[in-house]
Amino acid sequence: MDRAGSDGVTRIAQSFGRAAASYDAHSAPQRHAAARLAELIAAESLPAAPRVLELGCGTGHLTAELQRRLAGAVPGDTATHNFFCSDIAAPMVAACRARLPHCHYFVMDGERPAVGGGFDLVCANLTAQWFRDLPQTLARLAALLAPGGLLALSTLGAESFKEWRAAHAALGLRSGTQPFVDAATLRASFPAGRLALDEELFVERADAALDLPRRLRAIGAATPAPGHRPLSAGQLRRVLRALGPQPSLTYQILYARFRPASA
Ligand SMILES: C[S@@+](CC[C@H](N)C(=O)[O-])C[C@H]1O[C@@H](n2cnc3c(N)ncnc32)[C@H](O)[C@@H]1O
Repeated sequence: MDRAGSDGVTRIAQSFGRAAASYDAHSAPQRHAAARLAELIAAESLPAAPRVLELGCGTGHLTAELQRRLAGAVPGDTATHNFFCSDIAAPMVAACRARLPHCHYFVMDGERPAVGGGFDLVCANLTAQWFRDLPQTLARLAALLAPGGLLALSTLGAESFKEWRAAHAALGLRSGTQPFVDAATLRASFPAGRLALDEELFVERADAALDLPRRLRAIGAATPAPGHRPLSAGQLRRVLRALGPQPSLTYQILYARFRPASA
């Protein structure tokens, strides 16, 4: 599934990069998913002070939660030196480093992980929805695991932003949101192994409809699907009105924990 060429990847990276400073104030759904994913990871069997690779670390919501929860990885503890944190957007990496200085950091496209293997945990919170080729990327990430290692991620499911799409459809318009996977497609995207999949609906509400797309822009997540033609000002006003008096956006969050058959 090709969602964007290399231009598309650059646009995604630039959009998140520009949002590094405003991300924390507008990322309640991402913060929520990070806490839940960290909780699910902490309930899994992992070695003490695990060697961790994180993709799409952003400003560090998952990194901070994991460091708090994983045995031997208390902030300030030298065990946090076992955290290898990456993001495709350099300003996000810089923001995460400023918040959690003891990890290793690098800029990296999670779809092409240029690192050696041997990780006890490879993880990503709300990043995989930006991957263009999910099956190939998951196979590459699984190959980075040490024997017995865990690949854990959250991603957005197909129900996400249904209100936004419905408001467009009611007006005969197409929304520019990225296509999100359903649970069955996500399940089928993993290589052979043991997979646990959970899902959750998180509803973000706003006083004014315009706040919803504004928040997405403020976290850098408003890059439209390839080929989408932006709405005119008048069309956008009508879409916002169609969201109704109590505007909200649903995030369907899929949480996956995977251990390869051979690990
Ligand atoms: C919605 S944010 C989530 C950030 C962070 N994980 C959190 O929990 O707040 C998505 C992050 O994924 C990064 N990203 C997008 N595509 C990526 C890719 N192909 N490889 C690595 N990071 C990517 C973005 O730069 C952004 O920081």
